[in-house]
Order: sequence, then C-alpha cells, then structure tokens
Amino acid sequence: MRHPVFPNLFSPLRLGNLTLPNRIVMAPMSTQLGDEEGHVTPRQIAFYKARAEGGVGMIIVEFCCVHRPTGRSEHRQLSLDTPAHLDGHRRLVEVINQAGAVACLQLQHGGSGVPRALVEGGIAIGPSDVISRRDPSKLTARAMTEAQIEHLIECFGRTAELGVEAGYQAFELHGAHGYLLTQFLSPLTNHRQDAWGGDEAGRLRLSQRVIARVKQAIGERPLSYRLSADEFSPDGLGIADMERITPQLVAAGLDLVHVSMGTGYTGMDKVIEPMSVPEGWRLPYARRIRAAVVVPVISVGQIRWPSTAEAAIANGDTDLIALGRPLLADPHWASKALRGAVESIRPCTSCNYCVTSHAGAHGVIGCAENPRTGQELDPALDAGSQRGARAVVVGGGPGGMATALMLDQAGYRTELFEARDTLGGGLIASAAPPFKEKLQWYQHYLERQLAASGVAVHLQQRADLATVLTPRPAIVIVAMGGRALSLDIPGIDAARVFDAYELLMGAVDWQPSPLGLPVLIYGGGETGCESAEYLAERGFEVVLVSRSPLAQLARAAEAIYRGVLLTRLSSNPRVRIVDSTQILSISGTDTPTVSLSGEDGHLWSLPCDRVLIAQGRRPDTELAQALRKAGVPFVAIGDAHQGGRIGDAVHGGYAAVKALRSQTVVVHELAC
Ligand SMILES: Cc1cc2nc3c(=O)[nH]c(=O)nc-3n(C[C@H](O)[C@H](O)[C@H](O)COP(=O)(O)OP(=O)(O)OC[C@H]3O[C@@H](n4cnc5c(N)ncnc54)[C@H](O)[C@@H]3O)c2cc1C
Ligand SMILES: Cc1cc2nc3c(=O)[nH]c(=O)nc-3n(C[C@H](O)[C@H](O)[C@H](O)COP(=O)(O)O)c2cc1C
Ligand code: SF4
Repeated sequence: MRHPVFPNLFSPLRLGNLTLPNRIVMAPMSTQLGDEEGHVTPRQIAFYKARAEGGVGMIIVEFCCVHRPTGRSEHRQLSLDTPAHLDGHRRLVEVINQAGAVACLQLQHGGSGVPRALVEGGIAIGPSDVISRRDPSKLTARAMTEAQIEHLIECFGRTAELGVEAGYQAFELHGAHGYLLTQFLSPLTNHRQDAWGGDEAGRLRLSQRVIARVKQAIGERPLSYRLSADEFSPDGLGIADMERITPQLVAAGLDLVHVSMGTGYTGMDKVIEPMSVPEGWRLPYARRIRAAVVVPVISVGQIRWPSTAEAAIANGDTDLIALGRPLLADPHWASKALRGAVESIRPCTSCNYCVTSHAGAHGVIGCAENPRTGQELDPALDAGSQRGARAVVVGGGPGGMATALMLDQAGYRTELFEARDTLGGGLIASAAPPFKEKLQWYQHYLERQLAASGVAVHLQQRADLATVLTPRPAIVIVAMGGRALSLDIPGIDAARVFDAYELLMGAVDWQPSPLGLPVLIYGGGETGCESAEYLAERGFEVVLVSRSPLAQLARAAEAIYRGVLLTRLSSNPRVRIVDSTQILSISGTDTPTVSLSGEDGHLWSLPCDRVLIAQGRRPDTELAQALRKAGVPFVAIGDAHQGGRIGDAVHGGYAAVKALRSQTVVVHELAC
C-alpha cells in the first residue's frame, strides 16, 4: 500500500539480489565504540540495534579498516582483516537483520592521512610522498610501491570475503572524504607518474581494481561506492570531473553510487557541514551524478526532514537518501515518519557536538540532544521507589527542559519553573544570530514534548527556596544557566551600555545610528562574534573589540562552524575587528566614547552609538547555595554548573537522572 504522505520514501527498491524495504539508509558513521583491536563490542551492537529498530531500510555500518597495521584512521576503528574479528560482525549483522534492515559494510583504508601514532613505523602510506608541514625534512606518508598496492587490493578483497562470511548483504567502498581511494583518484594527492597515477585513467586504476576484486569476493551482493562529488578546490576534482569519472567506476562493477561531498584536506565544512549550511544543498550534485550513471544513487548530507527526503526522490534528484546525524539525534526518524509522527522527530540541528565528542583517543559517538546515543546499554530511567515523588527543575533552557522530560519519563511528579515568559533559555540567544535558526527546531521540539508530557510548567515564576520547598521535593535540578560577568570598568553602567546576551534574547529593539556611529562590541568570544553578525545583518556598523589576539576569536565554538563563522566575519564590510585591545573606560551618555588600550600600549578612543558587552557568563549559584544550606538534595547542571554547550546541559541532566537510580536500585545476587 502506498504511504499517504511519503509514498516515494516508503517504497521498496530492488538492488541486485536484494530488496530494500524503503529508501532510507543509515549513513556510515564511525562510532569509536569498538575495542582497541577493532572488534565489534556489545555497546556497538546496541547502537546499531536501536537504529535498525527505528525503521531504516539499510544500515551502512561505519568505516571498517581493511588493513589495520597501515590503514586505521581512528583509535578504536572497526576492523575485519582477521577471522578473529568475525564473531562480533556476525552478531552485528544478526541484530540488524532481525529488525528488518539490510546490513551493508563500508570498507576503508586511511592512506596518507592515517595518524602517526596509529601506523606501523610512524609513517603512513599513500599514492605519493607527503612532507611534514612542521618539519620539511621529514615524511608523514610514503608513496606505496607496486607490491604494496597489489597487497592492498587483496586486503580489500579479503575483508569483503570475511564480510560475506559474517553475513553482510551489501558492501560499500569508501572512496570519499580524502581516504586512500580518494587520494589515488584526486590530482591534489596523487602525483605518481606510473600506471597508478599520471592521467585520469591512471588515477582511476586503484578504485577500478578494488571494485573488481571486491565484486569477485561478494558475488551477487550489491556493491556501492561512496564518492565526493566535489572537492571544492581549484586543482581538485569538481562535479564536472565526477560526472565523467563516475560512469567509469560503475562500469568496473558497481550497483550503487553514494554521493557525498568534500574531503578532510580541502575542508571538513563540506564533509560534515555546520548548521549554517541549508538543508538539501547537496541534492543538485546527486542529481547530476544520477543523470550520468545507470545505477541508483544515494544522496547524503543535510537532509533533515521526511518532506525534504520525499521531495528529493519524487523530483528525481536521488533514488535513496542516507541520514547520518539525524539518526544519532533520533534513531526512530524513519518509523516516526512512517506513522506520521514527524513532529516528534528529535531534530538534528547540525551543531556538531557529535563530531567533537567523537574526536580523539577517548572520544565516542554521542549527540547533544540524545544522551542515549552511544549509551544504548544504559538501563531505562526509573524512579524506582521514588515513583510519584516531587521533582523540581529550576530553569527552562535546554538543560532544564530535557531534564524535566527525563524525570517525567522516570516516574517523578515533575515541575519546571522558568523566570521568563517563554521556554528556551540560552537556546533563544543561540538561535538568534544569522544561519543558526536550526536551533529553533530543537527549542520547538522540546516545547512540544513538554506539552505532551506530565511535566507541570510554570512560566514567569522565578523560583526561590520557598517555591522549591513547597512541598519538599525528592530532588531539585538547578538549571538556571549563568549570569553576566560584572566588569570593573568606569562608565560600564551608562545608559547606552547593554548586555549582548539580552540583545540576542530579543530583549532590546534597536535602530542603526542616524549619525552612522558604530556599535562597539566588547568580547571576541562566540557571543561577541555572533552579535557582530547579528547587528551587521540588521544594518549596523560594528566594531568588535577583543582582548585576545585574532587567532583566538570565538575559540569555544565548535571547530567546523568556527572556521565558517570567522571567514564570514572577516569579510563582512560592516564589521571591523580590533584585537588585543581592552576598554579602559566609557564616558558620555547619548553618544558614549570608549577609551581603549592596545596590547602595545597604544591609547585611543572611539565615539559610538552603543556599547555591547559580550564578556561571557558565569554560573548562577545563589539558589544552589541556599539549597545546600537547607540540606535539600540538588544537582546543578548545564551553565548553572559550568559554562558550556547545549549538549553539556542535556548530558548533565541525563547523568543526574541516571544517578538518582543508585538510591533506589535493587542489587541482585549472582549465582556464581
Ligand atoms: C550567543 C550564544 C550562542 C550560543 N551558541 C551555541 C551553539 O551554537 N551551540 C551550543 O551548543 N551552545 C551555544 N551556546 C551556549 C548555550 O546556549 C548554553 O550552553 C545553554 O543554553 C545552557 O543551557 P542551560 O539549560 O544550562 O541554561 P540556559 O539555557 O541559560 O537556561 C537557564 C534558564 O533558567 C532560567 N532561570 C534563571 N534563574 C531562574 C529562576 N530562579 N527561576 C526560574 N528560572 C530561572 C533562565 O531564564 C533561563 O531560561 C550559545 C550561547 C550564546 C550566549
Ligand atoms: C561522527 C561521524 C562519523 C562519521 N563517520 C563516517 C564514516 O565512518 N564513513 C563515512 O563515509 N562517513 C562518515 N561520516 C559522514 C557521514 O556519513 C555523513 O556523510 C555526514 O555526516 C553528512 O550527513 P548528515 O548531514 O546526514 O550527517 C561521519 C559523520 C559523523 C558525524
Ligand atoms: S550532536 Fe548535534 S549535529 Fe550531532 S547528531 Fe546531535 S543534534 Fe545533530
């Protein structure tokens, strides 16, 4: 039967000897949930089980290294290069299949980008020598010999054979994002003059040979190739090149093409885009590749809502859509779309907290909005013997809203107090600057969830000790956020000096100066930089004064977003950045004049229309101190605990609710 709203999204697709139940694919995402030897762990199985049960048609299991000694891109990257790895993969395939999804494995080798610490002998291998940027006398990667290339083709084949043994029904080659296959394909990284380089035919050779070898290993099972449709570099491969190249890859034995974007060496902002990038921007690229090939294509990246996915398939941009981060935020994206519960999809805002949490030797997959991601083995939230007891949450920012929902789910009688007349807290300020409106998705989602929950929400009620204690609660969550730092600057209390946070909260309604005077923003953190863009967009001239040097602007912002923000800011004609400078005093009322001192001792002054202080906030601890004194159990989370990110606030709440269980848990004896 055709789905009444998303008939294309929920139509099956025949792929070689397989039928995918719908057009929704889980994009490969490295979880770092494997163990140190690259074995699949129970935690990893639980992560995929949740996504498979969420209704996707096919799961492309994260990049799996085909030769661990030379190809591992991350510490706990999944491997399948020895029979010892088979057992975990078998169990993983089983749970994916049991939930009704097809299990596909992505095969990868990191090539010249493999970190020094992860490669045998400390020097990676790739198409060409790579000289260290820090020390030009050293190599970070060495050009592969003919024998090494042949060996690696065999490694791809061997892993595919083991994958077949494990039960995978489909396979994907990772030819995107700048790993080994991309490195051979791209003129940016392949400088060889032998049969494996030189012209385009030479650069294509490794991919074609790997396709043929893997196809030989997997028989009738479908083979996908993930490529970057554009490297976004003048000397790299562009979409026109890929329109020419992709059919040649398909001819080597592909059943599916997975159209991704960008490379690590030309900019991660195209590979895992920040929130400033509009939804669906990649679809025209997928459409061009689709027109060039005779097999179905998958489009991935910045597809956030079922309506976008449905339209993309209906319009002929793509045959399948893959979701990466949306399934970290909400494993049940597909099943919610299927049953028409789109409003209850926890929306991925592309905040990239997941990228930060996943990085480094100890990082694992996670999601700002969904603390269960990567923690699927955690027991259910349960108030136990405290069921029905009163829980109080003070503050209706993301931390408070999410925690109230978790307490309600656990079985507490939950009340949430918010001093303002609206929920949202710092989410409102975070979403106000240009290109950040996706954060409103999350705010509205939490509001909807609260409206549908048992939480009693009290707006415009600034909670104090009496409010909290009437009647006495079992637990108090202090999620009050922070307070503006007070600065010891003469004139700081003048009438035309404002707080940047309040501006972004919508508390002030300004017009640009008729005299053309600028607004001086004091503070080069994320708030200062974003306030500058916010005001410039509204026609204000801005002077952004930072005590720190230029290189440290917005240093707490997420790295990929930060790069994009600073590029925009530095080319904004309405914004002048003055770094390594501090305010000494502010004088005058109608037109404040600000006295400034540069790092080199240079003193100067600037008349301006207004002064906006963006010097950060510190935890509001007043209520916490009163609660402590009164002996009331409480946990401070989010910015009320320590200034941080939305994800820190939500995760703090999860940890607090989870910890409550320790007070009521029943510890069972073991038989041994
Ligand atoms: C300009 C700006 C941009 C940002 N951008 C991002 C971003 O892109 N990504 C990101 O992850 N983070 C971002 N942040 C940080 C993020 O907004 C905060 O980390 C987050 O909002 C903290 O959430 P919270 O729930 O702890 O506190 P808050 O969001 O500050 O919420 C606290 C709430 O408590 C209420 N309250 C205070 N006292 C009381 C009381 N006594 N009784 C009742 N209610 C009370 C307040 O009114 C407020 O609504 C940004 C912050 C700013 C200022
Ligand atoms: C934490 C994380 C890990 C990723 N790991 C992989 C990977 O193993 N293989 C791969 O091809 N892409 C990987 N990607 C990229 C995603 O598959 C996807 O292309 C990208 O996130 C854009 O899609 P989205 O907007 O739906 O998230 C990863 C992305 C994230 C966020
Ligand atoms: S952390 Fe942010 S970007 Fe990553 S999945 Fe969650 S909402 Fe999306």
